[in-house]
Formats: sequence, C-alpha cells, structure tokens
Amino acid sequence: MDLRHWKLTLDADHLAWLAFDREGATTNTISSEVLRELGQLADHLASMPPRGLAILSAKENGFAAGADIDEFTRIASAEEATAFMRLGNEVFDKIAALPFPTVALIHGFCMGGGLELALACRYRVADDGPKTRMALPEVMIGITPGWGGARRMPKLIGPAAALDLMLTGRGVDARRAKKLGLVDAVTPRRHFENAARRILEAPPPVHAPGLAAAAGDWPGIRGLVARMSAKKVAERVRRDQYPAPYAIIDLWERFGGDPRNIPPGHPASTASLFAHPTTKNLVRIFKLQERLKDFGKVDSRLRGNDGLRHPRVGGDPASIKHLHVIGAGAMGGDIAAWAAYRGVNVTLQDLAPERIAPAVKRAAELYRKRLKQPHLVQAAMDRLVPDVAGNGIARADVVIEAIVENAEVKRKLFAQVEPRMKPGAVLASNTSSIPLQELAGVLARPERLVGLHFFNPVAQMMLVEVVESPRTSPSTMAIGQAFARQIEKLPLPCKSAPGFLVNRVLSPYLNEAMIMLDEGIPAETLDAAAKDFGMPMGPIELADMVGLDICWAVGQELAKPGAIVPKRLQENVEAKRFGKKTGQGFYTWVKGKPRKKSGGPGTVDLKGLADRMVAPALNEAVACVRERIVADADLCDAGVIFGTGFAPHLGGPISAIHARGKDAWLAIMAELERKHGPRFHPDAGWVGI
Ligand code: NAI
Repeated sequence: MDLRHWKLTLDADHLAWLAFDREGATTNTISSEVLRELGQLADHLASMPPRGLAILSAKENGFAAGADIDEFTRIASAEEATAFMRLGNEVFDKIAALPFPTVALIHGFCMGGGLELALACRYRVADDGPKTRMALPEVMIGITPGWGGARRMPKLIGPAAALDLMLTGRGVDARRAKKLGLVDAVTPRRHFENAARRILEAPPPVHAPGLAAAAGDWPGIRGLVARMSAKKVAERVRRDQYPAPYAIIDLWERFGGDPRNIPPGHPASTASLFAHPTTKNLVRIFKLQERLKDFGKVDSRLRGNDGLRHPRVGGDPASIKHLHVIGAGAMGGDIAAWAAYRGVNVTLQDLAPERIAPAVKRAAELYRKRLKQPHLVQAAMDRLVPDVAGNGIARADVVIEAIVENAEVKRKLFAQVEPRMKPGAVLASNTSSIPLQELAGVLARPERLVGLHFFNPVAQMMLVEVVESPRTSPSTMAIGQAFARQIEKLPLPCKSAPGFLVNRVLSPYLNEAMIMLDEGIPAETLDAAAKDFGMPMGPIELADMVGLDICWAVGQELAKPGAIVPKRLQENVEAKRFGKKTGQGFYTWVKGKPRKKSGGPGTVDLKGLADRMVAPALNEAVACVRERIVADADLCDAGVIFGTGFAPHLGGPISAIHARGKDAWLAIMAELERKHGPRFHPDAGWVGI
C-alpha cells in the first residue's frame, strides 16, 4: 500500500499501531486523501485481522484538528460537500466495523473529524496533560458533525450531554471527558503504549451511559430533550440566521444522527447548510481568525538593530517572561490576571494596596473557575504579584499602562517609568482613544511605545488591537503582536488614530442608540432591534456594561464637529450612574444582570430601528478601510467581530454591506440623512468598497 499520511506497524504480539502523520504539515487535518488511505487501511486490516488496533498521532501538537478546512473552503458545490460528508462516514463506519478491538490514543487537540474518528474506535485513552482538548466545534462554522459524531456521541455519553457539546462547540479536557464517559482512561502520554496493550489484549466492556443519561434517547423522552435544547438555542440565536444548531437537533432527533438519512432539500441537510450564507461567513471568520493568529508569529527579518528585546523566532511561545501592569482597575487588573493565567510572571502596580486587592480577588475567581485544580490555581496566583512600589518595572520585558484615560496623567507616568525600564523592554498603553503620538513625546525612546488595547471583559474578548504610532519601531510592533498571541489573544495591527478600529466603529452605533433613547424609544426596544439584527447584545445594555463614563470619554474623543451629545448619557455620567459597575445606568443592574421591562417590543419596525443604529457603524467601518487604519477590509471585519461580537452570521460590517448590497445601504443612508442630518452622510470610501 502506498501511504502518505499514515504509518502502520504490526508488532510481535500481533497488535497493529497506526500513526496519523499528515504529510507536509505540522498539524493533522483530515482531507479526502487522508480518508481514502484510511479506508484502504481498514480494508487491509479487516482482511488480515490483528489482535487489536491502536490509532495515534505522530504530531506533537495533537491527535487531529478536524477536517481540512482548506479543502472544505475549496468545495464549490453542494454535491461535492455531500460527497465529502459521505466519504467520511463510509471510512469511519469501516473503522467502527473492524472485527477486533480498536483504541484511539488522544493527546493535544482532538477536534471535529478527529474526535469523530476517535468515536469510531471502540475505546479511547486520553493524555492527562493540560493541552488535551476534545470538541465537536462544527456548529461554529455553520455545519453539523457529519462524520458519525452526531450518531456516536449521544449513544456513548447520553443525548443531553452530547447535544450540549455539539450545540456549543465547547471543548472538554481529559478529566471532564472521563467523567462524561467520552474516554475510557486518562493517563500520561508516555504510558499510552501500556494502556493500549492492556485494553487490546483484555478488552473491557464497552462504555455505555448511565440510566439517567441514556434515558434521553428513550422514545417518550427524546422529543422532550429535543424541545428543551431547541428552546435554549432559540434564546441565543434565530433559525434563519444560524441554522446549524437547529439542524444538529433535527439530525439527532429525526435522522438518527446520520446526515445520509436526511432527504435532499431539508434545511438540516449537508447541501442546505453548505449553501447557506451564514456558513460561508462563519468559515471565512474562522480563516480570518487564523490570519490574526499569524500576526503573532515573529518574522526573523525583524531582528533589528534598534536594541529592543526581540521575541525568539521559531514559535517559542514563552518569550515574554515578565509583565508589569500599572493601574489595577477594571482593565489593568484583568489584563494582569489573564497574563498570569497564561503563564507569564506579572507584577501589578497601583497607588495603594487596597486598589490592587479587588483585582487579585477577581483573579482568584477566574483561576478557580478555569483551572479548577488547587495546585494550578495556586501556581497562577503565585505568578501575580502586587507591587505598589513598582519594583517590577526594572525586570519587565513589557510594561502595560492602564491608568485613567487622561493624556496628561499618562504622560506624567511615562516620564517616571521609562528611566526605570530595562533597555530592551517595550512600553504599552491600554488607552481606548488617545492617539499614541500624544503620549510618545515625553519618552527618550518613543520607538518603544505601542498600544495594546484590550477589550472588556478581558477574559472573554479575544481581540487585542496592537496600535502603531508613526514612531513605533517594527520590532516593538512585532513584540506587541507576539505577546498578544503568547497570552492567546488575537492581535490586530492598527494605525494610531482616535478610537483605532473597534471603538471608532462601535461609538457611532452606541451614540445613535442613545440619541434614539432620548427621542423616547424604550431601551428594551432598541436592544431587541439590535439583537434581531444579529448582535449578541443590544447597544443600551452594552453601553451600561462598558461603563457610561468610558462611553462618555470615548464619545468626546471621537465626536465630530456638530455631533449630538446624548442627554440621558450626560445626566447619568454627571450623577455617577456608570452602568453595571455602579448598579445603575440606563438599566438597574441586579446580580450582574440588567432589569428589563417585559412585554416585548410589540409591533414596532425593529428592522428600521436596527438599520438606523447600524448604518453609522458601517459608515465608520468604510472610513477606517479608506484610511487604512487596518490593512484591508477583511481585517476590518475580523476586528469588529472579535472586538464587539458584531453579527458574525453577516461576516462583519463590510461583508454586511455587500450582503444587502452597497446601493441598498446607500439608499438607507440617504433617507436617514434627510431625516436626521449629516451624521448619516456617506464617507468617501463607499466608492471603493
Ligand atoms: P479604572 O478607573 O477602573 O482603573 C484605573 C486604575 O488606575 C485605578 O485603580 C487607579 O487607582 C489607577 N491609577 C491611576 N493613576 C495611577 C498612577 N499614576 N499609578 C498607578 N495607578 C494609577 O479604569 P479602567 O476602566 O481600567 O481603564 C484603564 C485604561 O484602560 C484607560 O486608559 C481606559 O481608556 C482603558 N480601557 C478601558 C476599557 C473599559 O472597558 N473599561 C476598555 C479598554 C481600554
């Protein structure tokens, strides 16, 4: 057999060891060729049965990352998509039908098609290391687990748990997987061979879910489970905007989890999902995410002669060893906590110990929630050191400033901090809106200043705008980008202009919503209209979340001549009602949730309201592309999606313009300009978009 992606060995005990080693790649992904070879191997093994088969990965980073997304995006027709789905099913069915015990040995990531392959084996063993992660994340790119996952996972762990994993796309670590019954054993990778031998030579009973979990599949209960899941999904997304989660429920409930049983033309069929615009947009966003990750890879050509410290080239992830954060407030405290969570040693400075204490408390909560095991929580806490005196400045590779949003105060701080920094270290500001040029003047070495603009809440928001002033050196940018990636955020290089990309696009949207609120439209209606458009959260709730003081400051910084100042915003800020953090803003906040009046929006034209709020944001996105705040329109879409959650099913603001049509939006803008004034005047960039 001529194999390019698999290596088969048979040992003296007649056990077969099949290593997945995708040719020419550092990561295993599953292409048609990979599947065809595996199919041939399964036929071959069935014809000369060994005593057992272990499937493992020869790659360091994991078992398999899923279907080959490049091949998936090259698929041109629904027929081809259906054929790819069928091929995967046929091959994995062959693995499942092998007449001897089979075990998958899982380390690192085991996602999508990779997990479906593991599920086709009779047993699974997982490495107990922190990098092990299993998921069926297909829903995130708008499709269903189509290679047997939707069939085998509910049978193995019960439908409720399986649906939860499939509908959220969430990953589980080895311990959780063992608890769920997704894997049979957890052991360090170095013991894989022994674990596999034990299982293959004396096969234990195959795992079955407990009675309570299995009951979800009983005829009377099935419909109930499906309805409950659909209700949960409906709270998050609409069927016309996000068909995949609804398709997953249908696939399980009505078609036995096998997409081959779905009649052509059914909305849950592979062909229908493939043809849906949401799927195309979600796949594109996935690829844009990879593009952002690449900004964190350091180019060796950037090893410059500017004397700055350079991250090691070649993917060494731990290049920034020490971070010093100044300002332990909402942002600085959470940036420090996040970096320590990601393995960086952090010192955290503020004016007094009592200002640092709340940040440390929040950090402990984050670590307990995410790391669970006490020794890991303790290790993360040990990496986060309160430092009122600022002793960490002299040791830090990167210093991040996150104090009050006031240029004068920041300049004063910079003048004190810079002389204490070690020669090669980078100075970063988390400013939301102050152009770096206004801060760099006080520095002896302005080329070492970069913007690292995080988003709130830091632990959840993926994006970091890495902001370049005209004086920032390329290596400082490279360090900023690499650092963002090191702590597993998505770096987006931006030019330093007021509001950078994300706040500049978000601010006119929030402002318009607040103007509409002043006109008497209820907050609940405005939020409902935005959600109906596809935003994850309405603008009034979002403004309260971000903090009305911040909205005010950013709005002031970005206001164009003649801009309208929202009255209720001003009143709230003057009365120090800042939103969620003070318990009162546009909404009253109780236990972290806004109290909204019930009753729904009635017969209001939600679409018209949403268009009015969204149009200024689209206009500003067009202006950002024209001014090259980011390098191109794709990066504008990526930034706005990952920085604000802007309607992912539409693919971001520029993509949303094209979805409805440029002319259609220009007509809407013309009408809005006639009614509400020049703030709706189209930017010059619409011509080139
Ligand atoms: P905050 O008011 O919660 O925290 C600021 C902290 O800095 C306070 O604890 C204060 O005691 C401390 N501080 C002030 N002067 C100091 C000094 N000279 N030395 C040491 N500590 C000092 O403010 P927040 O919201 O954390 O904002 C901080 C920065 O982050 C601002 O530049 C803001 O524009 C930016 N930002 C805020 C976002 C948000 O959503 N809140 C989002 C992204 C950026």
